[in-house]
Amino acid sequence: MSLSTRSVLTEATEVGTIPSSLAAGDADGVGPTGRPRPTFATPAPLDHHGPARILALCNQKGGVGKTTSTINLGAALAEAGRRVLLVDFDPQGALSVGLGVNPLQLDRTVYNLLMEAHVDVHDVMLKTSVPGMDLLPSNIDLSAAEVQLVNEVAREQTLARVLAPVLDDYDIVLVDCQPSLGLLTVNALTAAHGVIIPLECEFFALRGVALLIQTIEKVRERLNPQLELEGILATMYDARTLHGREVLARVVEAFGDRVFHTVINRTVRFPETTVAGEPITTYASSSAGAKAYRELAMEVLAR
Ligand SMILES: Nc1ncnc2c1ncn2[C@@H]1O[C@H](COP(=O)(O)OP(=O)(O)OP(=O)(O)O)[C@@H](O)[C@H]1O
Ligand SMILES: [Mg+2]
Repeated sequence: MSLSTRSVLTEATEVGTIPSSLAAGDADGVGPTGRPRPTFATPAPLDHHGPARILALCNQKGGVGKTTSTINLGAALAEAGRRVLLVDFDPQGALSVGLGVNPLQLDRTVYNLLMEAHVDVHDVMLKTSVPGMDLLPSNIDLSAAEVQLVNEVAREQTLARVLAPVLDDYDIVLVDCQPSLGLLTVNALTAAHGVIIPLECEFFALRGVALLIQTIEKVRERLNPQLELEGILATMYDARTLHGREVLARVVEAFGDRVFHTVINRTVRFPETTVAGEPITTYASSSAGAKAYRELAMEVLAR
C-alpha cells in the first residue's frame, strides 16, 4: 500500500459496525485482524551480519507501546540469531530503564553522540542482558538536543550520520522514538529504512495517525526516499471486548495489508517486565506476550 492517507483515517475515531469476518478471529485459521494468518517460516541462520536495516518505532501519541515493542521485538530478533542495536531516542529514557539501565548514572548517552564530534558510537554503546542485543541509552539530556540541533548543518541527518559506522555490525537497528513529531523524530525517520507504527486498540487509536503519515511522506519526499511504512502494529488488544475488536477492524480497514498479522494482547506481564528491567522473552519466556513478539519478529524478517 502507498502511504497515501485514506479519508477513513480522519474519521477513524468513529467506530462503526464491522463485518462478521473481522469480528471473530481464530476460526478457520483467521487471525485477529480478520485475515487468514500465514505461517512465517523460522529464518535461516546467518553466516555474516549487516548491513543493518533501520526501523523507527514511531507514533506521536503517548503510551501506545513503542518502547515495549522496541525492547521485545529486539529481544525476539536477537533470539532468532540477528544482531540487534536498540536506540533510545526518547529523553524519558524508558527504553534504557526497561533494559535495567539507570539513565541518571550514564556518563555518555545518545545526546553526547549527537552533539559532540569526538564521541564515538562505541563510547556510548552498552551490552544488554540479551546476547546479540546492544543499546544506545538516553536520559533527559537528550531533550536539549531537540533545541541545539536546530542550529546544526544537516540537522535532520545527525542520527543517520552517527549510526553509519556500525551498520555493518548489525542486522537490525530499532529506534524508539519519543511521543512527538519534532526534530528528533524527523532524525529517526531520516535514518530509517522503515517505520513501524504501534497503535493501541482503543477508541482514539487513529486520531493523529493522518498527521504522522503526512510527516512520513514529507520526510520521504524531502530527506529519505528509501523510507517505507513497514507496518502497523496493533497493541494492547483485548479480544474479549467488542470495542477492542471494532477498533482493530477499523485499523485493518484503514491500512489493509500494512497491518501486521501479529497482534499484541493487553496483559499485565508487560508492565511487570519494565520493573524487572528485562524483555518478556526472558522474564516470562513461555508467556503469550513473549510468543507474540517472537511471531512479530518472524513477520518482520519475512517482510
Ligand atoms: N500489550 C500491553 N499490555 C499491557 N500493558 C502494556 C502493553 N504494552 C505496553 N504496556 C504498558 O503501557 C505503558 C506504555 O507502554 P510503552 O511505554 O511501551 O508506550 P510508549 O508508546 O513507548 O509510551 P511513550 O509515548 O510515553 O514513550 C507501559 O506501562 C507499558 O508497560
Ligand atoms: Mg516510549
